[in-house]
Amino acid sequence: MNDTAENKGWGTFLVRWYRDGHRDLPWRRTKDPYAVWVSEIMLQQTRVETVRDYYRRFLARFPDAHSLAEAPEADVLKLWEGLGYYSRARNLQKAARVVDRELSGAFPCDAQSLRGLPGIGPYTAAAVASIVFGEAVPAIDGNVKRVGSRVLGIRLPIDAPEAKRLLENSLREAILGCDPGDFNQAMMELGAILCLPKNPGCAACPLAGLCDANREGDAESLPVHERKIPGKRVDVAVCLLSFQDGVLVYRREERLLHGLYVFRLLEEVTDPQTAADLLREDGLSAVFSGSMGEAKHVFTHRIWQMRLYHFRLTESPSAEWLASRGAVFAHRATLDALPIPTAMKAAKRAAQNLLQTADENGPEPTREKAPAAGAKPDRPSP
Ligand code: ADE
Repeated sequence: MNDTAENKGWGTFLVRWYRDGHRDLPWRRTKDPYAVWVSEIMLQQTRVETVRDYYRRFLARFPDAHSLAEAPEADVLKLWEGLGYYSRARNLQKAARVVDRELSGAFPCDAQSLRGLPGIGPYTAAAVASIVFGEAVPAIDGNVKRVGSRVLGIRLPIDAPEAKRLLENSLREAILGCDPGDFNQAMMELGAILCLPKNPGCAACPLAGLCDANREGDAESLPVHERKIPGKRVDVAVCLLSFQDGVLVYRREERLLHGLYVFRLLEEVTDPQTAADLLREDGLSAVFSGSMGEAKHVFTHRIWQMRLYHFRLTESPSAEWLASRGAVFAHRATLDALPIPTAMKAAKRAAQNLLQTADENGPEPTREKAPAAGAKPDRPSP
C-alpha cells in the first residue's frame, strides 16, 4: 500500500483532470435522478458507446418513473433487446413502480434509501447519490477497482474482504473535499480511457506521480483476481419450428432470460433425432429439414453451446397447446417486434431467412389446415 497516494488528497488532482476535458455523455448533462439511474443501470456490464443509443431511445419512450411504471413489461424488454442482463430491465421497472406508486414519484435521495429499491446495489446507489445529490460516497465497480488497486498498490485479491475494506476506506478519504459526483465519474473516466486493463496510458495519467503501480511497474497485473470458476457449459438444441410463414417462439418463464422470447430450446440435446423425438413427445408433428449452424452464448454462470435445427411442422398446434406453453407463431414482422435476447441472434437471423424464403415461395404444403383458434388440443402422437 502506498502512503503517497493514500494521504495526499489525490482526489482533487483527479477531479481537476476530469473537469478539464471529460467525455460529453448525455447522462452527464442532467441531474434528474431518474435519468442518471437509468444510465447507471445500463452502464453496468455495458460499454458507453453501446449505451448512448439505448439511453436516448429509452428516455424518449419512458421519460419518467411514471411512464416506465405503466408500460407493459414486453415494451421495456423490447427497448432493452441486445443490451443483455435483462433482469436489469425488469428491476428497473419494478423500482419505477415503487417510486411512482409508493413514493409519489419522489426518488430516495441518499445511498442507503436508494438501496431499498429493486436492482439498486451499492454501486448504483453510490453513483446516483453522489452524482445527483452530492453525497460523499464512493461508487466502486470493476473500473474503479482497477484504478484504485493500482493507485493505492492493493495487491491482495481485489474481492477479498481485506482488499475491499482497504479500497473503500481509501476512496472514502479521497472523495472528501471534492465534488463527490465528479470524483466518482473521474474514477470511471480514468478507468475507461487511460487506466486500461492492458497497455495503460500511464504517461498521460494525472495520477502517475503518486500511483503505486506506476512506480512499481506492475499496473498490468493489477487488480489481482482469484481464479474464476468457468461457467457451466450446456449443449442446447435451438429448434426453429416453422409452419407456413411463421415460426414458433416461446415466452421464457425461467429465471434466465425471463419474459423474453426464444425458439424451442432443448437442453442437453446434441442431435436432430433426439430433438425430433422430444418434439413428438410434446405433441408436435415435425419433420427435420436441416441443420442451420452453431452458435455460442456466454452468460455470467453458463455457456450455451447451441446447434440450430430447422423442423417443418406438418400441422399447426392448437390455440390451447400454444397458450399452455406461452408460445406464439411469429411472422417476419412480429419477430422484429418481440423482445428476443442476443443469445438467439444467430437463430433469429436463420429464422428470418427461412421466413423470407417462405414469403417468396408462398405457403408450404401441409397435411392439414391449421385449426381455428379455440380448436381442441392436439393429442401427442404415439
Ligand atoms: N460507467 C458507469 N457509470 C458511468 C458514468 N456515469 N459515466 C461513464 N461511464 C460510466
